[in-house]
Amino acid sequence: MTMKRVETPSEPSAMPVVDEGSLPTDLTPLLKYGPLGDDELPLVGTLRATYRGEALEKSLEALTPLRPFVQVVRLRGQIVGYVTVERDGPVPGAAYLRNIVVKNDLRKRGIGTSLLKHAIQVSKDMYRKTLALRVDPANAPAVNFYRSMGFTTVATVVSKKSGKLRLLMSREL
Ligand SMILES: CC(C)(COP(=O)(O)OP(=O)(O)OC[C@H]1O[C@@H](n2cnc3c(N)ncnc32)[C@H](O)[C@@H]1OP(=O)(O)O)[C@@H](O)C(=O)NCCC(=O)NCCS
Repeated sequence: MTMKRVETPSEPSAMPVVDEGSLPTDLTPLLKYGPLGDDELPLVGTLRATYRGEALEKSLEALTPLRPFVQVVRLRGQIVGYVTVERDGPVPGAAYLRNIVVKNDLRKRGIGTSLLKHAIQVSKDMYRKTLALRVDPANAPAVNFYRSMGFTTVATVVSKKSGKLRLLMSREL
């Protein structure tokens, strides 16, 4: 008799849980960086969808063309944040950071800083001397975060997609 193999249904969009109770105060030595694995886009999509309050499908649609530029940060093997770094963006000659997100319950613990330092290294590896980004001026945590990392506002621009005001910030590397 041939037995039919039954696959356990997987739930790729569910974020694996990091046992926070067992984490040390300084997380930075535990953080590992790298590209996105083959089946991991939904995990990153969940991070983005949660932060933006949008449907997972919409986040996946936005992230699919960015896939080659995604770098993830892992804590004990679990993805806890991601950043995208493109060689070209709105500032000629500057690399472009389009997205950076840290898992909600692990924010304010230095992961964002560490991830941004990694993005800076990725930009340098692309032989770029400047890193640029756009941010909603109403997103005070993000604006503070970028300022704390030495980014300054170089222009105020209107987003072509949303029509909303954005700060264009950059930093020499
Ligand atoms: C922005 C973001 C990536 C920062 O990540 P993080 O891991 O919390 O950052 P860090 O712990 O390394 O914080 C570094 C500094 O940023 C600033 N900062 C971070 N969160 C802040 C907050 N909620 N309010 C004010 N300042 C904040 C502080 O200056 C902080 O330094 P401090 O801890 O010594 O005060 C994170 O808040 C996030 O994922 N936000 C949602 C996504 C987002 O808004 N991305 C940017 C869109 S352009």
